[in-house]
Amino acid sequence: MGPNEVKIRTARPGDMAGMVTLLKMLFAIEADFRIDSQSQERGLSLLLKSPSALVLAAEAGGQVVGMVTGQLVISTSEGAPSLWAEDLVVDPAWRGRGIGRRLMQAVAAWAKERGATRLQLLVDQGNQTGQAFHRSIGYQLTRMICMRKHQE
Ligand SMILES: CC(C)(COP(=O)(O)OP(=O)(O)OC[C@H]1O[C@@H](n2cnc3c(N)ncnc32)[C@H](O)[C@@H]1OP(=O)(O)O)[C@@H](O)C(=O)NCCC(=O)NCCS
Repeated sequence: MGPNEVKIRTARPGDMAGMVTLLKMLFAIEADFRIDSQSQERGLSLLLKSPSALVLAAEAGGQVVGMVTGQLVISTSEGAPSLWAEDLVVDPAWRGRGIGRRLMQAVAAWAKERGATRLQLLVDQGNQTGQAFHRSIGYQLTRMICMRKHQE
């Protein structure tokens, strides 16, 4: 594999440090999420073990230069599984080369194989690049907004 070649593959425990670094970049632009390496590592470990989740890494020159995670939930509206895609981020030095698109295609293909009929994700209101990216690969705004609370 040449130094500029990028491979999309399932993430492994050895990718942890690279993925935690990428999530730090992502959460720095998402006001709703908290940068905490230990939490990020715990979350990624849970995803790596989960049978209904997928963690994908984009690897170039032995480094993780991009990632996305996907989880299946069951939708009563669809009467089928649907995908929550999260944690999409590409290292700034590697953006604009189709890696984000390839990561999203790969997680969508994984979900399709498992019967998912709908794909969904959250984007920060101020993240214009993220919104433009998702629009360009076919996502549309819905009328739903996100509400949440932490456990008491
Ligand atoms: C969003 C992000 C993952 C895109 O990754 P990427 O590898 O640069 O994207 P791609 O090269 O696959 O781009 C695919 C398409 O998205 C669109 N796009 C990508 N970056 C864009 C930008 N800055 N502005 C407008 N459109 C953009 C283009 O239409 C592009 O198609 P083209 O290559 O035919 O022009 C990357 O910019 C990133 O990591 N951003 C910070 C984290 C983030 O916002 N994550 C998403 C949270 S929901």
